[in-house]
Amino acid sequence: MLSLPSNKAMVPFVSVENMMRLVHHLGVETVLAELTDAIEADFRRWESFDKTPRIASHSGNGVIELMPTSDGTVYSVKYVNGHPRNTFNGLQTVTAFGLLAEVATGYPVLLAEMTMLTALRTAATSAMAARHLAPKGVDTMAMIGNGAQAEFQALAMKAICGIDSVRLYDIDPRATAKTSRNLDGFGLNVVSCRSAEAAVERAGIITTCTAEKQFATILTDNMIGPGVHINAIGGDCPGKTELHKDILMRAETFVEYPPQTRIEGEIQQMPANYPVTELWKVVTGAAPGRRDARQITVFDSVGFAVEDFSALCYVRDRLSGTDFCQRLDMIADPDDPRDLFGMLQRAR
Ligand SMILES: NC(=O)c1ccc[n+]([C@@H]2O[C@H](COP(=O)([O-])OP(=O)(O)OC[C@H]3O[C@@H](n4cnc5c(N)ncnc54)[C@H](O)[C@@H]3O)[C@@H](O)[C@H]2O)c1
Repeated sequence: MLSLPSNKAMVPFVSVENMMRLVHHLGVETVLAELTDAIEADFRRWESFDKTPRIASHSGNGVIELMPTSDGTVYSVKYVNGHPRNTFNGLQTVTAFGLLAEVATGYPVLLAEMTMLTALRTAATSAMAARHLAPKGVDTMAMIGNGAQAEFQALAMKAICGIDSVRLYDIDPRATAKTSRNLDGFGLNVVSCRSAEAAVERAGIITTCTAEKQFATILTDNMIGPGVHINAIGGDCPGKTELHKDILMRAETFVEYPPQTRIEGEIQQMPANYPVTELWKVVTGAAPGRRDARQITVFDSVGFAVEDFSALCYVRDRLSGTDFCQRLDMIADPDDPRDLFGMLQRAR
């Protein structure tokens, strides 16, 4: 006779379909705003997390990474890739899934798609940084790179920083047309531009979110006036950057976790002693954010495991009372814990 798996053996799983249902149930802008607060709350208790640079496996086409962290009670890990040329074959540049586990027993407590969730958490992290670093009263952002992440980035800046205009540019005009179409009806004034130079005009926040595995120069020094906040998302791998280093010489740069960012971020172009401020210190008030109206600030975003931890915990909490998950028979868990072989034999 087969015994039924225990409750702990059945792991809640949030599929892509259920993640999309959850986001629509709550509202995409609400999710972005709540995720921003959830990530900020975890940045405030930064010191309670295990931290390590992510574990990257590089190839000619891209990278596959594992991103673990724990706060001592809950453990999380995300599998994520970055393959900039995938879109030429109809595939996503970035895909991801992840899990939460209970530290006390090591049992998984949630498995979730994270391709959507990564776009949401990356946008929420950008908005959290901009909340502390962007110039006061900013109403316009430039969005350079109009791929999978673009709309999420624009809507998070609207929800958190109150921008009402977004100026789009991508080397592929079809990507800009897609983003413009998707943002229709969200209350943003959307302007499609013919160059990155045109896109940054009058923009107080400039977000670069392009994908190319090279030292790219999406922004040059002459394009950046005083008082601008740059949110550099796409430079997130060794040999993959977006900003000319002269910008970094003039700017104050804010990072997630320096040991990872020095390998992967824009600052890989700079000497090892290039000064950076950790974002968690700005959030807790231990370090200043924007100091004056003319300062150029850069959030050198690469994506850090704590943001995924926050996002997965947010989803776990928001699932309660909904049917937006399935239970997967994922953990072999015999009633007599030492009788794993007997469990196998009973299934003959
Ligand atoms: N920092 C983070 O936490 C984080 C999280 C997710 C993704 N990313 C990175 O963000 C980038 C974008 O991700 P995506 O999923 O939107 O990728 P995507 O492939 O869907 O979109 C990238 C877009 O950049 C455009 N592009 C390429 N070169 C350009 C250039 N020189 N000027 C203007 N546009 C250009 C492409 O045409 C494409 O539309 C990737 O590099 C990815 O690795 C970072």
